[in-house]
Amino acid sequence: MSMHKTAIITGVNGQDGSYLADLLISKGYRVVGLKRRTSSINTTRVDHLYDNPNFKMHHYDLTDGAAVMHILEKYKPDEFYNLAAQSHVAVSFEIPEYTSDGIAGGTLKILEGIRTVTPYTRYYQASSSEMFGDSKDYDPERGYNEGSRMMPVSPYAVAKLHAHHMTRVYREAYGLHATSGILFNHESPRRGETFVTRKITMAAARIRAGLQEKLTLGNLDAHRDWGFAGDYVEAMWLMLQQPVADDYVVATGKTHSVREFLEVVFSHAGLGDYTQYVDFDARLLRPNEVPYLLGDSYKARRVLEWEPKVDMPALARMMFDSDYESLYEKLRK
Ligand code: NAP
Ligand code: GDD
Repeated sequence: MSMHKTAIITGVNGQDGSYLADLLISKGYRVVGLKRRTSSINTTRVDHLYDNPNFKMHHYDLTDGAAVMHILEKYKPDEFYNLAAQSHVAVSFEIPEYTSDGIAGGTLKILEGIRTVTPYTRYYQASSSEMFGDSKDYDPERGYNEGSRMMPVSPYAVAKLHAHHMTRVYREAYGLHATSGILFNHESPRRGETFVTRKITMAAARIRAGLQEKLTLGNLDAHRDWGFAGDYVEAMWLMLQQPVADDYVVATGKTHSVREFLEVVFSHAGLGDYTQYVDFDARLLRPNEVPYLLGDSYKARRVLEWEPKVDMPALARMMFDSDYESLYEKLRK
């Protein structure tokens, strides 16, 4: 019998999937990463694991229930991290049905698979602070916690709330070790290029290098509780090590506007006042917006003994430095 624990990660080639795969491999796990088929290669975030004997990749799509059954039967995983999603909130207004089929339907397919095939498998659901929407049900000093009212305002968040409750139902009805991590925004040098933080750090790097003049953005007044993805995947793992499954908010406890993020990046880049470089485009506004997110991760800090190590200014500088360095490397070649 293998001494290694086996973990399955859906969306392994995404930001979080790649950090989690690195973490689990470093802990001696055998990791089976699932990715959907795409016509272009998009595995750069996990390419460094390609030759690792403890890492394997399989094709899979959230909409394919039979594939989940086969994978569970084949690998009999100890842990299953469901990170795959159409994760862009603005895009979910354009393709609501696809977003919902994947997130809501896909989660249910996995939970049914675990219930019927490997009920001992510990399950992690990637829930989101976007589920709180604009409910305003928070202590102004501390922010939203696990008990705050959820009032989603996007198709993405409604689908995530469906998956969140389904995870709880499977925990309570069938005794599965099924946990939801309600994660606030987390970013990194591996962040997708269409999320606002990465869009800003990549543009600032190009402006600094003289390759671009302007950056076009939408709502600069939105506030987000931004943390570092590398810290947040540790919380995911800790959740599945608990004897009893439960839900946890993961956040830094500090919120900043998009404007403040811009200020930190442009000043760190030595470019000065960001307003000289930013254009507004109304097409980047959303039909509905979540104006303010602040998270209270007291429970995760107490029970999981987890804490974030990187604050927003350090995160913004880390992301800019990484983007500037890789641009510089490319230009040198
Ligand atoms: P990400 O970088 O967008 O990664 C999402 C992954 O899901 C990608 O590998 C993507 O594949 C895959 N995927 C998309 N549709 C799929 C489908 N139909 N079938 C199979 N795979 C599919 O997102 P992330 O930032 O790592 O976030 C991980 C999870 O946490 C997501 O569920 C997200 O909604 C949730 N979450 C994220 C945050 C955050 O701030 N990052 C906060 C709370 C919750 P492609 O590369 O081919 O698109
Ligand atoms: N993407 C984007 N692009 N956002 C912009 C832009 C722009 O050009 N201009 C302003 N924003 C604003 C958005 O309107 C939003 O208020 C804020 O910047 C953050 O947008 P995103 O970075 O796209 O993240 P998000 O908060 O909508 O969603 C992310 O966090 C959620 C957790 O709260 C995603 O990672 C979700 O998957 C995740 O669940």
